[in-house]
Amino acid sequence: MGFQKVGVLGSGIMGSGIAEVAAATGATVIVRSRSQATGEAMLASMAASLTKQIEKGKRSAEDAEAIIKRVSATTHLADLSDCDFIIESVVEDLEVKRLVFRELNDVVKPEAILATNTSTLSVIELAMETSRPDRVCGLHFFNPAPAMSLVEVVRPICASDETMAAVTEFVVACGKEPVNVKDQAGFVVNALLFPYLNNAIRLLEQGVATKEGIDTAMKGGCGFPMGPFALLDLVGLDTSLAILDALFAEFAEPNFSPRPLLRRMVSAGQLGRKSGSGFYDYRR
Ligand SMILES: NC(=O)c1ccc[n+]([C@@H]2O[C@H](COP(=O)([O-])OP(=O)(O)OC[C@H]3O[C@@H](n4cnc5c(N)ncnc54)[C@H](O)[C@@H]3O)[C@@H](O)[C@H]2O)c1
Repeated sequence: MGFQKVGVLGSGIMGSGIAEVAAATGATVIVRSRSQATGEAMLASMAASLTKQIEKGKRSAEDAEAIIKRVSATTHLADLSDCDFIIESVVEDLEVKRLVFRELNDVVKPEAILATNTSTLSVIELAMETSRPDRVCGLHFFNPAPAMSLVEVVRPICASDETMAAVTEFVVACGKEPVNVKDQAGFVVNALLFPYLNNAIRLLEQGVATKEGIDTAMKGGCGFPMGPFALLDLVGLDTSLAILDALFAEFAEPNFSPRPLLRRMVSAGQLGRKSGSGFYDYRR
């Protein structure tokens, strides 16, 4: 049958993209944001993303209009009470996510499935905040969600086969490719990607090359679509720091220990594209 009504918690970079992808399956989507202004900004960013797809010939104008009509924003968690499926995509902070899962569990119907879009955090810890740990899993979308084909489907040890089958069906309906992964920090992609990004910052700190030079080297030498500093700015430096902190907490490997420059830039509010500046400046 598929999910008829999908809730998304968090209206940041990922929440907005996931809401668009979910609405494209034909489901009604409701996004909970913390303020009306961020909810409206999410709808505007979704409209811009759909316009780009129309311009590139990837979607018809009618299709885009139907998608946006299926999405609404709210500031009230209780408005998600009749959702069949909810995807949490708030800040990468275990304590914040724990609280969100406790609150969600109290308002949504008992048969609803809950997923987290966490990049690194332990899914079982979130599942155990609920009275339905068999109905909780991870769905790790990639940035930007409408464009990236992969979704890591994370199975915590308590999840039922029915839950995993239903969410996998949803991922396929989103037009994405599911890869099953264990509930372990970083799953596959970030466990491999973040030591590379962290080491790029180390090379910059050591003065081996400029950030532009390192980005050019990795694009031209490895065929990557973007260099590490452009990618860090896209992901968000705060999110990147949280991912490295979680990886280091789980494995205590030096490659996961966040470089000092990353922590300093986050302290300075230089978060990448979303704040207007990071390794590069986006204000012009
Ligand atoms: N940025 C990426 O490339 C990327 C990729 C895949 C997964 N993720 C994951 O997606 C999730 C969201 O990341 P994002 O990049 O969209 O971040 P973002 O900074 O763009 O958005 C964060 C959202 O969390 C909300 N938020 C912040 N503090 C909160 C609180 N105390 N209670 C409730 N909501 C709160 C914000 O209002 C915002 O809507 C994180 O778990 C992140 O690890 C990010």
